[in-house]
Amino acid sequence: MKKITFAFVLSLGSASLAAAAERPAQDIVHWTPTTWAEAQRDMPKGNAAAGKKLHSTMFCASCHGAKGESATNNWPSLAGQSIAYTYKQLLDYKSQVRNEDDRAHIMVVVAQMLSKQDMTDLAAFYADQTQPCPKGLPKPAPSLVTVGDPKRLITPCAACHGARGQGGVNETTALRGITRDYFIRTMEMFREGHRTNDTSKGMSQFAKPLTDQEIALLADYYACTPPEKAVTE
Ligand code: HEC
Ligand code: HEC
Repeated sequence: MKKITFAFVLSLGSASLAAAAERPAQDIVHWTPTTWAEAQRDMPKGNAAAGKKLHSTMFCASCHGAKGESATNNWPSLAGQSIAYTYKQLLDYKSQVRNEDDRAHIMVVVAQMLSKQDMTDLAAFYADQTQPCPKGLPKPAPSLVTVGDPKRLITPCAACHGARGQGGVNETTALRGITRDYFIRTMEMFREGHRTNDTSKGMSQFAKPLTDQEIALLADYYACTPPEKAVTE
């Protein structure tokens, strides 16, 4: 991995922007459970110390915070995220299967510079960090989290993302401490069909039936879920 400057990132940005605009939609390959299982088998072992270095030399810290705890509500935090989820997102930006809007496009540009080893090193670093609770007292869980809505075929969020949003199997995202505006934006992207990188619509099917109000309530809840200790006490 060569050292880069921010100017280089930006200049690469305009080149990639042009390339991305030209990439025909049929060249973008969506995951199936089989191809994603293969990609996980193929994932190199991550080295958190190497990831920490990359996090600063590749300027990830300038947007995502010194330890992956984003300073703005609008951009995602990476701290405390599972290795498989972060690795998959970086692969997805690189292949452009995730490229839902201009903000995602920043990451499409950044990801072109990363090898699989870089991705898993970065992922190992973020997995070792803890996500601080950004604000206020925890809010009670909306019923969508704990019981879902059988009428609209919505499985409880907790069934996949964990009782306290700590994340689930494989790439099932940790939602605990997720930045509020980013949460709202990415849920809308799933709902409107602009974010389509989830394997076999494993996530977007649950975002589709949600109202704006429900998404806002869920955003408040996941921005600060109670620590796991509270569950066992
Ligand atoms: C110029 C700002 C900027 C830089 C530099 C940057 N990111 Fe991002 N990153 C973003 C934004 C904005 C998003 C949200 C994009 C979206 O909505 O899809 C994001 C999203 C992500 C996500 C997905 C998070 C999720 O919860 O799905 C990962 C992983 C990520 N970035 C890792 C990195 C890494 C690793 C680097 C350095 C190699 C990096 N980013 C550099 C702005 C940046
Ligand atoms: C059947 C399992 C399942 C259920 C139920 C589910 N999700 Fe997900 N969710 C996933 C998976 C898998 C992903 C990762 C998608 C990908 O590969 O990018 C995900 C991703 C997300 C993300 C993106 C996080 C990020 O950092 O970008 C959000 C937000 C989210 N889910 C919220 C919810 C909410 C809120 C509910 C309940 C209304 C819910 N999910 C129900 C499986 C599920």
